[in-house]
This record gives sequence, C-alpha cells and structure tokens, in this order.
Amino acid sequence: MKALVLSGGRGTRLRPITHTSAKQLVPIANKPILFYALEAIRNAGITDIGIIVGDTRGEIEAAVGDGSPWDAKVTYIPQEAPLGLAHAVKIAEPFLNREPFVMFLGDNLIRDGIARLVKEFGESKANSQILLAHVRNPQDFGVAELDGDRVLRLQEKPQNPKSDLALVGVYMFDPCVFEAVNAITPSARGELEITDAIQYLIEHNYDVRYQIISGWWKDTGKLEDMLEANRLALDGLEPSIMGEVDADSRIYGRVTIDAGAKIVNSVVRGPAIIGSGCLIQNAYVGPYTSIYNEVKLLNSEIEHSIVLENSSIIDIGSRIEDSLIGKNVVVSRDNKMPKAYRFMLGDHSEVSVL
Ligand code: DAU
Repeated sequence: MKALVLSGGRGTRLRPITHTSAKQLVPIANKPILFYALEAIRNAGITDIGIIVGDTRGEIEAAVGDGSPWDAKVTYIPQEAPLGLAHAVKIAEPFLNREPFVMFLGDNLIRDGIARLVKEFGESKANSQILLAHVRNPQDFGVAELDGDRVLRLQEKPQNPKSDLALVGVYMFDPCVFEAVNAITPSARGELEITDAIQYLIEHNYDVRYQIISGWWKDTGKLEDMLEANRLALDGLEPSIMGEVDADSRIYGRVTIDAGAKIVNSVVRGPAIIGSGCLIQNAYVGPYTSIYNEVKLLNSEIEHSIVLENSSIIDIGSRIEDSLIGKNVVVSRDNKMPKAYRFMLGDHSEVSVL
C-alpha cells in the first residue's frame, strides 16, 4: 500500500501567513501539521509516500527531505495549479502504479491515527473506504448521506446538508478510482472534486465503505480550527522542562520548555510549549499556547495562541489571546509622540485593538 499526501493548494483562509509559507507547515504544538500526517502514515506501516506540491514546493521539500526521519521514501509530485483533490490523484497515477493507497490531506489531523483503518481496508477488498465525523458546520465540508451501512450520496459543501457527517480528509482507494477521476468534470468552484469521484464510484456500483471516527479530527484550514487543533494537541503533551527556569518564575500544569529556552520572572500555565532559544521575561504564558523557536516575549501576556519562530512581543499592555502570529513578526509598544498606532501589516492581515 502507498500513501498520497496533499500539500499543494492555496491556503486563502489563512492569509497572510500563507502568503509566504505553506499552510501544512504551520506548527501545531510546535510540530508542523504535515509531520502528524507523515507519522500517522508511517505508524500504519506505509513507507512509500508521494507528496503533491504546488507553489510552496521548496519549503515542503526543505522540511520533509527524502523522508528518512520517518524511515520512509518520499516522492514529490508537482501539481501545476490547485485544480482539485481528484486532479491530484490523476497526476499521481504513475507514482501510485495501480497499488491501493491512502490519500491524506496535508492540513488534516486525526488523533487516533490511521493504522487500524488502513488494516481494515487492506483486509476488506472494498474499492474505497471513507472516514466520516459528526460536525457542527457540515456545510463547510463534503457531506455524506447514509442508508444503513451504505453510502447513498456525497455532496461537496452543500448549502443544505443532508446530515452532520463530514468527509474527513483521509480516503482509501484501489485503482478503480482512476476510472472515476478521469470521468468527472470540474465543479462550480472549478476543481475536480474527490467527493464527485467517490460519488461516481457509488453510482457505478463499486464497493464504497465508511467508518465514523470517534476520536477528534481537525481540518486546520481556518484560524479558529488551527487554534482548536493546537488545544487538542497540547492536551496530549508530555511535559518536560529542558530549558532554564529562574527562581522567580512559576510553571503550572503540563508544560514543555525546550533546551535553550529561558524563563525569567514569568508565569507559564500549561498546557503550553515553548521552543528552543526563546526568552520569556516578565511575562505570562497562559493555557493552550505554543511558542515556537527563538521568540522573545518581554513584559507581555499571551494565551490560547500560536507564535511562529523568531517573533518578538514586547511591552504589550493587554493580554494577547486567540492569535496566530507569523514568523519574524514584531509586536511592540512605542512611546514616541504623537501617541498613535503605527502599523506595517501585510495584505489580508487582521488586527483587533482595544
Ligand atoms: O478536510 C476535509 C475536507 O477537505 C473534506 O470534507 C472536503 O470534502 C474536501 O473537499 C476538502 O475540502 P477543503 O476545501 O478543506 O480542501 P482544501 O482546498 O483545503 O485542500 C485540502 C488539502 O489538499 C490542502 O492541504 C491543500 C491540498 N490541495 C488542495 C487542492 C484543491 C492540493 O494539494 N491540491 C489541490 O488541487
């Protein structure tokens, strides 16, 4: 069995972070989202992995390399434009070479991994297996309509969803899927939809099975989902304090502080993770916060947030929360006259002031 991981796409809902970076590399609990997918695939015993890449190919390749950290062999498959999930399957046909495969969307996180599901599919002789999860906002996903143990119909982001069962971004197929991806036409949003390809399989009497997953699953396409994924991942964090914590600081709950980080006269209340080379001084880091490497947090408070590498947050008078702060960002107070907000914000930035 092979794996196909999708790491192309545009990431429009996470701008401005995705103007410069791949959304699949944003760290959740200080680990790139994509790495969770690679681990899940490897834990299912799959070592031959194709990765679909687009404009951010360089960055993805730099992070994943040849796959050796996962004892896997990675093949990069360039996609000329994000023409849809089924288009990605189409262009991966030479790599997949008529073997059954699991397709994993690179921005999806599944708590319980996929080992059991892959094993069941391997033993089932089904043509496809999809995963479903109950959600509050089915209109934002592919939605399944079931009839007992049969999948009746799938619809991509329907205005009037027939159920609350969303398609999770992990799909298993045998080579029959190529007939489907070659038969369908682009949807209203101009993409070849994998949802339509699976609907084709259903209509042509192929054996499509489903599993409803019970552990948490997150599509991290939007800021609020990313923060929630971070929360869920931090809940499973193994605490470890490798960095320096001075005598005036207090650490409460499940906290990881990497080697080379310094906590000075500060309070860190977990679950939280602080990366190497960080300086946290006269500061408060509250629950559900992930601070990546080389960040400076001075005379400031933050919680329920993600901060990427090499950013500085200095002398902010009010607590920062529910925020995603990119790489090399500076958020600071200045006392120059006239007293005013002074911004340099990238396209599609969002700022809320008090
Ligand atoms: O997360 C689950 C949902 O994923 C499903 O419920 C939907 O049925 C499915 O269509 C998909 O919806 P999204 O709108 O969230 O897909 P998105 O465009 O965000 O793409 C998912 C991943 O695949 C993302 O990592 C980018 C990558 N991608 C996307 C497209 C369209 C590619 O590599 N190539 C592409 O052409």
